[in-house]
Formats: sequence, structure tokens, C-alpha cells
Amino acid sequence: MTKLSEITLLFFIVCISSFFSFSHGDGAGKSNVFTVVGHVYCDTCRVEFETKLSEPISGATVKLECNNRTDDTSTYQSPEITTGAKGEFRIHVTGDYEDSDCDVILMKSPREDCNEPTESWRKARVVITTKDGVTGNIRYANNLGFKRKEALPECKQVLTEMGYYELKNELGKEAAP
Ligand SMILES: *[C@@H]1O[C@H](CO)[C@@H](O)[C@H](O)[C@H]1NC(C)=O
Repeated sequence: MTKLSEITLLFFIVCISSFFSFSHGDGAGKSNVFTVVGHVYCDTCRVEFETKLSEPISGATVKLECNNRTDDTSTYQSPEITTGAKGEFRIHVTGDYEDSDCDVILMKSPREDCNEPTESWRKARVVITTKDGVTGNIRYANNLGFKRKEALPECKQVLTEMGYYELKNELGKEAAP
């Protein structure tokens, strides 16, 4: 009798603990909370990539949008998020967006002299799922930026140092700033 109740008790302990570990693991997968982080810059050289003359823009707004990859309907829209003192933003999003394309989108710049939207720095693709092998809940977005109305005079020097003009010549593109 004693033996039997001990076995019964042991059986229950095993059941209960496996139930908890199972539901915990599964539940975490269903309600992932991701934090998307990134920065907004002023592209002071009008080249659409970062140079040492790029300036962080605080008070700019961005938004996270996800669209169903199959029929392009909206699956997630964050509110507008304002960047901090160093141009940084954090967007919290709950859920898993395996079947969506998610982008951080540049909305507004507070700077009169730097509010021209860029083509390649206008949005940044982010992966918001754990199902594609990317682990961790922090997701880094590429930098986003607005172009300054006019390139700074120092840009010529900095871009020359970066080998930018040589590359441009090689690619046969239009002249730079
Ligand atoms: C995406 O769209 C397809 C086709 O309309 C639909 O079958 C699927 O359930 C949608 N997925 C999500 C996550 O909304």
C-alpha cells in the first residue's frame, strides 16, 4: 500500500513537471516579444551610406510595418516611434511574423536642413520570427537616414579618403556631391 502510493506520487510529480516544462517552452514560442533597434542619421554627404560626417537625428519618427508576403495585406503596424538623443529607436513587437515582410520605415525628420527622404536609406528589412534560425529577441535594423539639403564642404575630403570617387568612376555612375 505504501509502495503503491509512493509510485502514484512519483508518477504525479513526473507528470506535473513535464507538463510545466512543455507548456512553458511552447508558450514562449507563441508569444515572442521582439525588440527592433536601430538608428536614424542625417546623410550630410548625400551618398546614402554612413560616413564619419553622418549625424544622428533625435526626434525623428519611424514605424514598423509587416505585410503578408503572399497577398501583401497588412499584418502589423506599430505606432510612430520617436528617436532618442543619439538617433536611436526601439520598437517592441509581440508575435511571430514568419510569413510577413517587415520593414522599419522612415517617417519624419525634425530638421529643416535634413529632411529629404533617401532611396536606399528609407527603409530597413527586419526578420521577426524565430522560425528561420535567427535566435535572440533583439533584432537590429540597418541605419536609416534623411539627406541634408546640401552636402557639407568637408564631404569631398572624407569621401576621397573612403575611395568613393574611384569606385564611382569604376561603376561609371554620375558625379557625386
Ligand atoms: C497571408 O495570405 C494568404 C493568402 O491570402 C493566407 O492564406 C494566409 O493565411 C495569410 N497569412 C497571414 C499570416 O495572415
